[in-house]
Amino acid sequence: MVDLDIRTRGRTAPGRLRALDAYLCRFESALLTREDDAWARAVFADVGFGEHPWTTLESAQAFRALNPGLTVVGVELDAERARAAARTHADARTWFREGGFALPLGPDEPARLVRAMNLLRQGPPERIPEVHRTLSRPLLPTGLLVEGSSDTDGAVLVAHLLRRAPDGDTPVRESLLFHTDFSRGFAPLLLRDWLPRDLRRRVRPGEPLHAFFQAWEAAWKAARAAGHTAPPEAFAESLPRLAATMPGIATDAWLSSHGFLRWSPPGGIPP
Ligand SMILES: C[S@@+](CC[C@H](N)C(=O)[O-])C[C@H]1O[C@@H](n2cnc3c(N)ncnc32)[C@H](O)[C@@H]1O
Repeated sequence: MVDLDIRTRGRTAPGRLRALDAYLCRFESALLTREDDAWARAVFADVGFGEHPWTTLESAQAFRALNPGLTVVGVELDAERARAAARTHADARTWFREGGFALPLGPDEPARLVRAMNLLRQGPPERIPEVHRTLSRPLLPTGLLVEGSSDTDGAVLVAHLLRRAPDGDTPVRESLLFHTDFSRGFAPLLLRDWLPRDLRRRVRPGEPLHAFFQAWEAAWKAARAAGHTAPPEAFAESLPRLAATMPGIATDAWLSSHGFLRWSPPGGIPP
């Protein structure tokens, strides 16, 4: 079997995934708080937390505001990072373990949410479907896998939202989530550079992702031409225009006012 785990640097930063935490608290609160049957034991696993477990601890705090008893497991391929985090930050509900994509969770530790941010930047994109399958294996049906990339401080972020189906072990490529905090201005192409690994080379004529960016660019230009030139306004005003031409664009006021676009095309995100 091919080794899917590839060693990478551990760069991370406090606050990098805070916007994603806010999104998940807002739109996945049912998933974060479910307690029936196996869900009572279901963990949040943060895979590849980096040289310091800042993002894991921040997410633990955000999610526990909804579910105080939530068990959180930080996973690292780098044994020393896992040991150091465990020494300093482990407690009764917070674990740090050495491991790779085949997550080090026991048979009594199903997952409700698995997050793998900023660790698939290297290696062949062809391995990604297998990585997604492996990461989603411990998820309970309807559980969520979040996999994507961001810049170093989280100002620009794009992530796959993959849902574990009730049957079958291939997660459904439900949505692509785009976020910016506008500190770098805004144009749709800003987000192209932070697409998840398997989509980065797919913005070529004839590909669905190319059509998506073309349509978003046209919607953004139309918003600017109508006088909405400030980046947050141009972003928010581009969304209903884009939704008029492209199926699956969420038109939710919280999303647009917080710099999020969620695209859930019928049939899922094209592979
Ligand atoms: C760039 S850091 C990202 C840290 C954090 N997730 C963030 O977004 O800021 C990537 C970390 O993922 C770890 N990593 C890479 N591949 C992994 C794998 N297959 N399983 C677990 N950890 C992995 C690396 O050791 C590294 O510490």
